[in-house]
Amino acid sequence: MPAKQKEDLLKVVDTHGACFSRELAAEWKVHHDVIVGFMKSIQSYGDILETKENKVERWEVTAEGANVILHGSPEVAVASRATPEGRSRDEIFAEVGQMGNVGLGKAIKLKWIKTEKKGDQTIVTRIAEDLKDTVKEQLQAIQADDADMLKNTAVLKDLKKRKLIEKKQFTTYAISKGREFSLTLEKREADLTPEMLADGSWQTTKFKQFNLQALGTPVNYAALHPLMKVRTEYRQIFLEMGFEEMPTSRFVESAFWNFDALFQPQQHPARDAHDTFFMSLPEKSTDFPPEYLERVKQTHENGGGYGSQGYEYDWKLEEAQKNILRTHTTAVSARMLYKLAQNKPFKPVKYFSIDRVFRNETLDATHLAEFHQIEGVIADYNLTLGDLIGTLESFFKRLGIEDLRFKPAYNPYTEPSMEVFSYHKGLDKVVEIGNSGIFRPEMLRPMGLPEDVVVIAWGLSLERPTMIKYGYSNIRDLIGPKVNLLAAKEKPIVRI
Ligand code: PHE
Repeated sequence: MPAKQKEDLLKVVDTHGACFSRELAAEWKVHHDVIVGFMKSIQSYGDILETKENKVERWEVTAEGANVILHGSPEVAVASRATPEGRSRDEIFAEVGQMGNVGLGKAIKLKWIKTEKKGDQTIVTRIAEDLKDTVKEQLQAIQADDADMLKNTAVLKDLKKRKLIEKKQFTTYAISKGREFSLTLEKREADLTPEMLADGSWQTTKFKQFNLQALGTPVNYAALHPLMKVRTEYRQIFLEMGFEEMPTSRFVESAFWNFDALFQPQQHPARDAHDTFFMSLPEKSTDFPPEYLERVKQTHENGGGYGSQGYEYDWKLEEAQKNILRTHTTAVSARMLYKLAQNKPFKPVKYFSIDRVFRNETLDATHLAEFHQIEGVIADYNLTLGDLIGTLESFFKRLGIEDLRFKPAYNPYTEPSMEVFSYHKGLDKVVEIGNSGIFRPEMLRPMGLPEDVVVIAWGLSLERPTMIKYGYSNIRDLIGPKVNLLAAKEKPIVRI
């Protein structure tokens, strides 16, 4: 039988006046898609066919079912490998792979094979001669839309249970003649050319119809990630307030600058591997300002003569030398304040930073092992807690956050310390928005800062406000390996 053509479909419609795509596919023994393909292609020639959609459910062979049609059913696979003398089950399974167990069960039920135990082996013996692959035939019939088979509910139920067929939505068409029906398809032009205009042939040429429903090619455009967008906003606020940005490129930091310089004792739980990522290569840093290092050691051990008694323990250089992924950007602030102290005479500064930090957290919807911190630092003579509160108020006001609340807190490097809260209208609750404090003399004096210089500072995460502002409920949709890059484009924020 020669392969069917578009013209054959036209002949059927001409002879019968109309036809149904599904019936025609069964009659021609072709896949339904072939008919639909013909139909759509004919329609591009003009109003030749009229079609009416009809959505129905029908049984379709699953991928597993298609595999049975191609290679035979599991029961035949197992039984055909068994011999009248008997073979080891494991050997047969090794040959047929995954479907061994199912095939064995079915073949026993069909009385094609028998099994018996011999020692620790199971022997499979073939008892039937003919192995008719009924399941394969049933699947073929379903694929061919065979009406009798589709009425056999017992078979359908069994095949469905074996996940060899499934019910699927399916669009069929009633096809009849269109206004311009014809048995031959005249080639249509897609483009109007200058030549056609010049020689007048455009007047008699038949053109393909425009498809006004066709979607245009999506326009590609770059988009800023929401985190970067919000980072820009914060940076702008700091710059407007006269702050200078600190260099934050050092992700790998020594425990010295991350902890010791901040008067965080060496046995502090945050310095544990449970909270901090330690580096194995290079494992250590050794280049520290020697005199400062000694003053830090003394301050931890006995207060260093700055009016504190220190923590009274043996400070160990090895602990300070360990390389880690910085756990906060306050490590950057420590380096910058040390540098500042070396430039005499002292000049007041306002610094900020926004960059990545790392913590060995248990990951969940609001915690990640890496996130961004925003930090502000002001060093000046005789600053007070009032200056800190006032600065925080004007900083957050620029973000549209007013009515701050403060709660006493603890940081090893600040005293006093305050957590910052605010009432969030959208969430209808008071949420923590940051942490702050006045750096301790035990941190600043060893650096060499004058006694009457006070440093106030605060820090917050970049992710938290971004999530609240743009309605993310899971931080993993915002950063990390699961981020859908295209999602960044869907947020209107990126285009503003
Ligand atoms: N380093 C603190 C944190 O990681 C934030 C902070 C910065 C607190 C500066 C006080 C002063 O949460």
